[in-house]
Amino acid sequence: MTRILLYGAPAHGLVEIPPGAVQVSPLSPGSEDLAAQPDASADRILVLAPGGTIERDHVLAQALRVLKPGAPLLAFAPKDKGGGRLKKALERFGCAVVEDARRHHRFCNVVRPDQPREIDQAIAAGAPRVVPALGVWSQPGVFSWDRLDPGSAQLLGLLPPLAGRGADLGCGVGLLAARVLASPAVTALACVDVDRRAVECARHNLDDPRVTVLWADVRRIVGEAGLSDLDFVVMNPPFHDGGTEDRNLGVAFVQAAAAMLRKGGVCWLVANRHLPYEAALAEAFSAVTVRSDAGGYKVIEARR
Ligand SMILES: C[S@@+](CC[C@H](N)C(=O)[O-])C[C@H]1O[C@@H](n2cnc3c(N)ncnc32)[C@H](O)[C@@H]1O
Repeated sequence: MTRILLYGAPAHGLVEIPPGAVQVSPLSPGSEDLAAQPDASADRILVLAPGGTIERDHVLAQALRVLKPGAPLLAFAPKDKGGGRLKKALERFGCAVVEDARRHHRFCNVVRPDQPREIDQAIAAGAPRVVPALGVWSQPGVFSWDRLDPGSAQLLGLLPPLAGRGADLGCGVGLLAARVLASPAVTALACVDVDRRAVECARHNLDDPRVTVLWADVRRIVGEAGLSDLDFVVMNPPFHDGGTEDRNLGVAFVQAAAAMLRKGGVCWLVANRHLPYEAALAEAFSAVTVRSDAGGYKVIEARR
């Protein structure tokens, strides 16, 4: 049987997706893991390449590892998000690249060389590891993978000890969750993220019987068992979807948090100052207090 893999979610009509292609992007809950595919097992791979250099090279090297010798790889990316550097990245691995451009994207067609070069190094460079500065498991490609995000740092500086059952929406590798769990009055914490890599790191980092880690899109799990009548929610909501700024995503997180909380429950969140969440917060919560507004971030306590 022909095995075709697809990494990422290209815009409609950008490339022809072969029928039966198996999704292997970590940002697609339920997908297979590219890193877990056997060597030389795929007949064809299409990769919407991520913008970060270490992450991109890791994904391309994994794709070359997984392809059968001589099998085709199509790698593509928006010109202004790394597309212009794809050809060079593939040439580093010993590929002869045929490149073309359309719809603001670069497309690189290669076949898997018999002996790709330097793929082991690129795979190792992008693999999960303990980041000494954070003291936690993380992986290039995960949000703010090797440093504490300044917004999250501000939220951590103000977060009081919480109690009861709660959720960390968009938990990343679990830095907010770890702080929440320092309170012995917390009885259960659901940590949710759409990125499998983050979820796997969070599972390592939050080894605590009170924790449930879910690989899911927050917008699709409102009303699920264990995620209602919560006492608290903490979050640093995302405002990028597939690399493009999407303010509606943050608004959806605000609405999801409100839907998960009991009456009187509290949501602590941090947001970039320019993001207009006020209307959504005012609509979904009975009391909204800005606890700090500094350095481009607002920390907000919202009571349902
Ligand atoms: C701003 S980061 C915060 C990460 C972590 N809480 C921290 O403070 O370091 C937002 C997180 O939301 C995740 N995310 C983005 N879209 C999501 C969605 N639709 N559902 C669940 N998580 C999502 C991202 O993968 C990312 O880890």
